[in-house]
Amino acid sequence: MTDLTKYSQKIINNFEKRGAFLISKLNEKINVMTIGWGNLGIEWRKYIFIIMVRESRYTKEIIDASNEFTITIPLDEKMDENLKICGKDSGRDYDKINTLNLETVKSKKNNTPLISCKSISLECTVVYKQKINIENLDNSKKEAFYFDEDLHTFYHGEILYINENL
Ligand SMILES: Cc1cc2nc3c(=O)[nH]c(=O)nc-3n(C[C@H](O)[C@H](O)[C@H](O)COP(=O)(O)O)c2cc1C
Repeated sequence: MTDLTKYSQKIINNFEKRGAFLISKLNEKINVMTIGWGNLGIEWRKYIFIIMVRESRYTKEIIDASNEFTITIPLDEKMDENLKICGKDSGRDYDKINTLNLETVKSKKNNTPLISCKSISLECTVVYKQKINIENLDNSKKEAFYFDEDLHTFYHGEILYINENL
């Protein structure tokens, strides 16, 4: 198991501060979207990162087909503008990687690349996924986050490799 404890504080602090890039790839097409919510923990004796992806996202289509994703968590403000754009525009409409001149780097264990910047990146393979069952959700969350019924699916990604790019 990769030693997550060395990085966990840095991952949580920076993820909370500015979010992260969620990268997905199918065939030769790479897409990137911004995420602000996630979970770092242990399941099935493995380190896991859980992402939440709404039904409407192009990214969801890709991850459902590829069964893997990578996450790049920037460690400074240089990517803030790109995070903003990737959190608003869809890869269905244009190629965000090329248009924003985002540089990608090969993963060690995944087929999906990382975004090149001062960052920590996680290479994950999907080991479990579950769409939110709205009946089981607290009412306050239903009203605040799902009034349009664009539900999240939780993807539990086993962390295969952690990259630190300083
Ligand atoms: C700060 C921030 C955090 C976001 N977090 C999430 C998230 O956790 N899950 C999600 O489905 N969408 C999230 N979004 C919205 C997506 O990034 C956005 O809809 C994006 O355009 C989807 O791209 P795609 O259609 O190419 O997949 C977030 C947006 C921002 C700005």
